[in-house]
Amino acid sequence: MSVQPEPLVLVPRQEVAATVQRLAAEIKRDYHDKAPVLVGVLKGSFIFMADLIRMLDFRLTVEFVSLSSYGKGTESSGRVKLVRCLASPVRGQDVLVIEDIVDTGLTIAFLLDYLRKKKPASLKLCALLDKPARRKVPVTIDYLGLTVPDKFVVGYGLDWDEKFRHLPDVCVLEGSED
Ligand code: IMP
Ligand code: MG
Repeated sequence: MSVQPEPLVLVPRQEVAATVQRLAAEIKRDYHDKAPVLVGVLKGSFIFMADLIRMLDFRLTVEFVSLSSYGKGTESSGRVKLVRCLASPVRGQDVLVIEDIVDTGLTIAFLLDYLRKKKPASLKLCALLDKPARRKVPVTIDYLGLTVPDKFVVGYGLDWDEKFRHLPDVCVLEGSED
């Protein structure tokens, strides 16, 4: 039986909340008159998305897509698959993608390409976390929460092998060199 790694708090919940509030203020400033479509990337962004949209006091709609790039554990397979696509067309709309973390960038680059082909009026990216150390393709993050070190992080929606999503703080897995 494998040993269960131990999560240690990296970003306490209060700091996560303050970060989400700051991002909401930036998004309000830019989108209050635009009625954007917020596209959440499942599953990792579900808690971030839920907290963020409740701080936005203007008209918006919500969509979800699901991509898979990771198998079990902490190593990217490098292959990205669209597991759940958009339920409604976004042609001519202002699209803001809500992502949990940008790591190699492969997943989000794939999604942005897919969405660009749908001809939105605008397309921007909001990511709670950025792990730039392992970037393989350049990605512009228009609204960035926090930069994290080159460790595997869990909690606040992020998982390791589908575990730890429910932790209220962003944590690192002890011994993770990822
Ligand atoms: P990328 O394609 O390498 O940028 O990985 C993107 C996706 O992998 C993210 O949307 C996350 O769902 C997942 N991911 C990347 N790094 C981490 C991490 O440190 N913890 C949990 N999930 C991660
Ligand atoms: Mg994700």
